[in-house]
Amino acid sequence: MRFTLNRRPVDVPDELADEPLLFLLRDHLGLNGPRFGCGVGSCGACTVVVDGQPERSCVQPAAAAEGRDVLTLEGLAEADGLHPLQRAWIEESVPQCGYCQNGQIMTAFALLAARPDAGASEIEAAMDGVLCRCGTQPRIRRAITRARALMAGGA
Ligand code: FES
Ligand code: FES
Repeated sequence: MRFTLNRRPVDVPDELADEPLLFLLRDHLGLNGPRFGCGVGSCGACTVVVDGQPERSCVQPAAAAEGRDVLTLEGLAEADGLHPLQRAWIEESVPQCGYCQNGQIMTAFALLAARPDAGASEIEAAMDGVLCRCGTQPRIRRAITRARALMAGGA
């Protein structure tokens, strides 16, 4: 089984095809950005971006990644530095415990990649189902707005 992971091709033994994609990424490929939260597709902590769409990797079989383009939090930064979302997250001091933040950032990444000028209601709709029990939602919304401006400015 072969797919693209963080811009590089990876080959995975076929016997792992039935594992949840989350377990493949964390336990076999050493990527700990995506988190195990609920395990049933409800919280968003495990979100990765597959072919540009945010997907909950706890409820996807690894086989679903075959031939596709998977991006995890580890792949967000580019050679020339942190992604604007990551910079905005730092500047707004978003995380509290941090557990949900992978899902927040990856969901926001997919949104801004598809809709660079997303307005407040689009941001709200996209982020609504990604849970944060620490109450960081206001800072998340501010950070996305800041990242949107950074991206618009070519930063
Ligand atoms: S761990 Fe996947 S949605 Fe909660
Ligand atoms: S920062 Fe703790 S759950 Fe979101």
